[in-house]
Amino acid sequence: MSRRNNWIKPLLHKSQKAKEFAYCPYSKFRVGAALVAHDGTVFTGCNVENACYNLGLCAERTAITKAVSEGYRSFKAIAIASDMEEEFISTCGGCRQFMREFSGKWSVFMTKPDGSYIDMLVEDLLPVSFCTDDLKKKKASSGST
Ligand code: THU
Repeated sequence: MSRRNNWIKPLLHKSQKAKEFAYCPYSKFRVGAALVAHDGTVFTGCNVENACYNLGLCAERTAITKAVSEGYRSFKAIAIASDMEEEFISTCGGCRQFMREFSGKWSVFMTKPDGSYIDMLVEDLLPVSFCTDDLKKKKASSGST
């Protein structure tokens, strides 16, 4: 491991610890996330389910919302952890879009409990994405209401 990447393992560990707070009485599928901002500050999150099922929040969105609500909008990476031993936890489409809001050029570490991971950029997880810049683009005149 190069010294430049020595922040990755601790980030993965924080995502695993965050998973312990998962509130998932319905799915019983624990997820943790650890998000690192550009200045190195880490925000963790877990999934938070609800008796009204569709109100449930994913771990990634919990972490991103915590960060944004504390003034952070620039991120380096997010690590995601679950209890699946044989599979790398993936991130849902909604969370990909939520990540994309803050740039496509940051890393998503999809992990297994043994510490192995797949590392992909947000823009590769969500190609041809719709983003904030699209809202500023030229529209046909009928789109001016
Ligand atoms: N979940 C996450 O928190 N992140 C993901 O990337 C995938 C799914 C949660 C949502 C729900 O609480 C549970 O996992 C089962 O879908």
